[in-house]
Amino acid sequence: MSEEVIIVRGNNTLTGEVNASGAKNSALKLMAAALLANGTTKLHNVPVISDITIMGEVLKCLGARVTREGHTLSIDTVNVDKHETPYELVSKMRASISVLGPLIGRFGVARVAMPGGCQIGARKIDMHLVGLEALGVHFRVQHGFLEATTPNGLVGAHVVLDFPSVGATENLLMAAVVSEGHTVIENAAREPEIADLANMLNSMGARVTGAGSSIIEIEGVPLESLHACEHTTVGDRIEAGTFLAGGALVGQPLTVRGIDPGFLRMALMKLTAMGCEVETGDDWITVRRYRPLQATEIQTLPHPGFPTDLQAQFMLLCACAQGNSVVTENVFENRFMFAAELSRMGADITIDDHHALVRGVDHLQGAPVKSTDLRAGAALVLAGIVAEGETKVYRIEHIDRGYEDYVGKLQSLGADVRREMLDGPSL
Ligand code: EPZ
Repeated sequence: MSEEVIIVRGNNTLTGEVNASGAKNSALKLMAAALLANGTTKLHNVPVISDITIMGEVLKCLGARVTREGHTLSIDTVNVDKHETPYELVSKMRASISVLGPLIGRFGVARVAMPGGCQIGARKIDMHLVGLEALGVHFRVQHGFLEATTPNGLVGAHVVLDFPSVGATENLLMAAVVSEGHTVIENAAREPEIADLANMLNSMGARVTGAGSSIIEIEGVPLESLHACEHTTVGDRIEAGTFLAGGALVGQPLTVRGIDPGFLRMALMKLTAMGCEVETGDDWITVRRYRPLQATEIQTLPHPGFPTDLQAQFMLLCACAQGNSVVTENVFENRFMFAAELSRMGADITIDDHHALVRGVDHLQGAPVKSTDLRAGAALVLAGIVAEGETKVYRIEHIDRGYEDYVGKLQSLGADVRREMLDGPSL
């Protein structure tokens, strides 16, 4: 059986400038939000990644026409007449659950396959359901599908989330914009992608205030009053953070353009604490390092805390730092699998429940390793750049879900990295 892998040679080179693509974790929801209006929505700065392709398939299943020209998607929803998503697509990409809110908003009913868990955790959706029930949605689970109805319509409510769930905040937001009356979402997620979604909804005619803070308020408007719009996706802070971690790791100047530094304040603080120099402009960030990386403590938390999606990349920095670091994963219950793969390259990491003790080592050795999720995969490729010898990264379909032309961007920064089709057993 053949498998495409990424082969990296440890040439200790990663320097220059790279452009961040549009944010995967925003664009996917912006696509879903297009369902709330009839007409052609144009989304700019949409990354060319497989998750976007899958979301496009989901929208086409509903009756939408989705076309792409470069980084611009056009989504024509005039013929959207179905309210059911197929299990085959939802099982490929959990983020398909983001159509639940807009489908309920558009049709008052929805039938969405229950998303499964994934490598990093159970990925429950109970908060999505409890919040939507507060808006008047009734749910039944039948044969693995969520069946939603709104017998008395969608009615605004004061919802308090147990945890600032990104997905729950987004689904609630997309249903609340066409609910009768006033809705408050308390303990809302504050990730920058939430504000991006709210900005698009407002340009469609919605009335959302407070997005980006933990209290979002929505004045419901009639569904018919919402109209298609044109919107540009914000830069991908996690992709940007991944490249900046690579720059910090190798120690040569590296600049990422097309990103608001305000999206990465905590990660930039950590880079500085670990011995890097960070310079920022309106839409660019440069990292440099002139002395050895220093150990640190990292606690992943909802935004504005340290992002869980940069945990693996910074664990790699800790593995190559002087001294002992502690990395605590507070967001997902099983997001340390990267540590086992990095240990195959010589890292010294001890896991104790949701804490990882990372003892810095002098060098890493190239080895065959496998991606356990897209961020871990991206970090393993970075590890190969500073490891002795050759590293083969398997299961790179994970990386292709969220990183546009990752190998090409790394090559443009001087890394000795390539994709290659290998025959023989997969890892
Ligand atoms: C989004 O996932 C992102 N995915 C994730 O990025 C990111 O890690 C996560 O937010 C946190 O920032 C997309 O946007 C497509 P949550 P989401 O709801 O919405 C639990 C990547 O690498 N929870 O904030 O699923 C849940 O199990 C991906 O790009 C419930 O228990 O995140 C998790 O432990 C990985 N019940 C925690 O909350 C719920 O109803 C955070 O989940 C909802 C969530």
